Amino acid sequence: MTLKLTTAGESHGPALVAIVTGLPAGLLLDREAIDHDLHRRQLGYGRSPRQQIETDRVDVLAGLRHGRTLGTPLALVVPNRDHKNWTWGMSPWPPEGEPTGKGTKPVTVPRPGHADLAGVLKYGLDDVRDALERASARHTAVAVAAGAVAKALLREIGIEVAGGVVGLDELSGRVDEARQDRDTIGGVVEARARGVPPGLGSYATKDDRLDARLAAALMGIQAVKGVEIGEGFALAAMRGSQAHDEIVPGLHRETNRAGGIEAGVSNGEEIVVRAAMKPLPTLMRPLQTVDLATGDPAEALVERSDTAAVEALAVVAEAAVAFELARAAREKFGGDALGDFVAAHTAYLERIAWRPR
Ligand SMILES: Cc1cc2nc3c(=O)[nH]c(=O)nc-3n(C[C@H](O)[C@H](O)[C@H](O)COP(=O)(O)O)c2cc1C
Repeated sequence: MTLKLTTAGESHGPALVAIVTGLPAGLLLDREAIDHDLHRRQLGYGRSPRQQIETDRVDVLAGLRHGRTLGTPLALVVPNRDHKNWTWGMSPWPPEGEPTGKGTKPVTVPRPGHADLAGVLKYGLDDVRDALERASARHTAVAVAAGAVAKALLREIGIEVAGGVVGLDELSGRVDEARQDRDTIGGVVEARARGVPPGLGSYATKDDRLDARLAAALMGIQAVKGVEIGEGFALAAMRGSQAHDEIVPGLHRETNRAGGIEAGVSNGEEIVVRAAMKPLPTLMRPLQTVDLATGDPAEALVERSDTAAVEALAVVAEAAVAFELARAAREKFGGDALGDFVAAHTAYLERIAWRPR
C-alpha cells in the first residue's frame, strides 16, 4: 500500500488537477482546512498582485462522499481564476475568433534561470510559453491541497507537520531592497514533523531511505537548490563526538543534530529538514538573453512575478514533507479502512514500547 500524487495543469490554463491514490477509506476531510493552506501559500511579503486575483479554493470531483474518503482515487481541482484573462491565449482547443486577452503573441526571449530555453529545445517548441506554463510554480497550489489531505491522515496517528521561513525577521527588509532595485531574492525554509514514530523509511535500499525521499520531495519543488537534514552541511565540520545524538535511558536523545533520521529511518525524534531557494528568475530589470526568432542579443521576458516567494515555499515544503511522511506511513501501516491503519500504528507502538531486559 502506497500513496501516490499525480498533478496536471498549466499556470494560466483552466485549472490545476491532482489525483491522490492509496488513501484509506473513512478519512474525514475538512474543506476549510484545505482552503486555509491554499490561502497560506498565497500570502507572504514580496508576492505579485496575481495572488489577489486568485483566492484559491479546492473542489473535489471524485473519491469523497459527504466529507469522507472512499478509499478510491481522490480527484482535487483548483480552478485558475486568472484564466479568464487568457481564454484565447491558453485555450486547450484551437481558439475561435480574433486573438484577445493575454498570451496571444509567442514569447521568444528565454529567461536565464527558468525553464524557457531548456524547455523549447527539449520539446521542440516555437513559443517559450509552451514550456513556462507548466514549469511555473503555480501548480504547487494543488500539491498544497494534496499535502493538506496528507496532514489530515497523519493527524490520525499523532503526526503534525509545520513549515516556516528561516530568518523571517529580516525578510521584509531584503524584499524591499530587492524590489527597489527591480531584483529578486531567495531564502531558506524549514519543515518540522513531530510525533513521527521510529521506523518510517528503511536502510534496505536507497529508494526506501526516508532522508533520500524527503530530499527528493523538496528538490521536486521549483527553485529549491539545496536540502539538508538536521544539521546537514554543518555536520561536515564537526567531530563525531560533537555530531551524534547520544542515547539516554528511555531511548531518548538530548540533542537532535541528525534531524530525526538515522540510516534512512526515522528515529522517533522530531524530523527537521531545510531547503534553500534560489532568487526567482523573472526580473523586472531583465537579464541578457538571445531572441530565438532572430538570434540577436535581447532582454529576457518580463511578466508579472514575485520579488520573493520564500514564505510560499515554506507552505509548499510543509505539504511535500507531509505527503512523503504520509506515504511512508501508508507503506508501514497499510489498511484499507482508516481504522485498520490506526490500529496497526497502535499495535506497532505497543511492540516497540521499551522495557529493560
Ligand atoms: C512558490 C513559488 C513561487 C514562485 N514564483 C515565481 C515567480 O513569481 N517568478 C519566477 O520567476 N519564479 C518563481 N518561482 C521559481 C520558478 O518557478 C523556478 O525558478 C523555475 O520553474 C525554474 O526551475 P528551477 O528554479 O527549479 O531550476 C517560484 C517558485 C515557487 C516554489
